Amino acid sequence: MQTELRILRYDPEHDTKPHEQSFRVEAEPMDRVLDLLHKVKYEQDGTLTFRRSCAHGVCGSDAMLINGRNRLACKIRVDQLGGKKITVAPLPGLPVIKDLVVDMDGFFDKFKSVQPFLQPSDAPPERERRQSPADRARFDDTTKCILCAACTSSCPSFWAQPSYVGPAAIVNAHRFIFDSRDDAAEERLEILADADGVWRCRTIFNCTDACPRGIHITQAILEVSSAIVGRRA
Ligand code: FES
Repeated sequence: MQTELRILRYDPEHDTKPHEQSFRVEAEPMDRVLDLLHKVKYEQDGTLTFRRSCAHGVCGSDAMLINGRNRLACKIRVDQLGGKKITVAPLPGLPVIKDLVVDMDGFFDKFKSVQPFLQPSDAPPERERRQSPADRARFDDTTKCILCAACTSSCPSFWAQPSYVGPAAIVNAHRFIFDSRDDAAEERLEILADADGVWRCRTIFNCTDACPRGIHITQAILEVSSAIVGRRA
């Protein structure tokens, strides 16, 4: 079938503002949007710029706004989008570098700010740090994050206040705060109790809807908020 792909383009060397460009591509229903972007780049316009790596929903590099929702281009199929017309734009709320490539530096700075690594206070054991299946299950959901930024860039609180640490950083803090082997939860909770921390969440659920891994992000944010409140009680 013929599909019209409307892509929001921006080249800082030539454009003063973004503009839409339309391409017609031959598509199969099971093609993914990433396949169509490749067709445009390889067959029609080699200047089209976008990130991708694994093409299997693992690396998180090709999140973009597709038909008005943040999704991974490598996971969403043409038939899931109705097939005839597909719009593609860069992730909202993040500075555009070129075409579909956004500047992720601020996003990763926020990720790093919550200390997303294991910090046990005891000396390393001779073998692995053991954990019960129940303790491991406590944070299983938030281990699934692939840092694609689909959640943070879909959040109206982040759009309104870019200094908000954002859902992705909170998800990655949650992954360690509730890890029984870690001893730095207090420090992370203190960071997230800041004015730009969890309290900026308005439980709009855009983040949960946008997550390509199905993480219950709003629930994770509320669990972190509750832990902050519990700590002060
Ligand atoms: S290219 Fe890796 S998640 Fe899509």
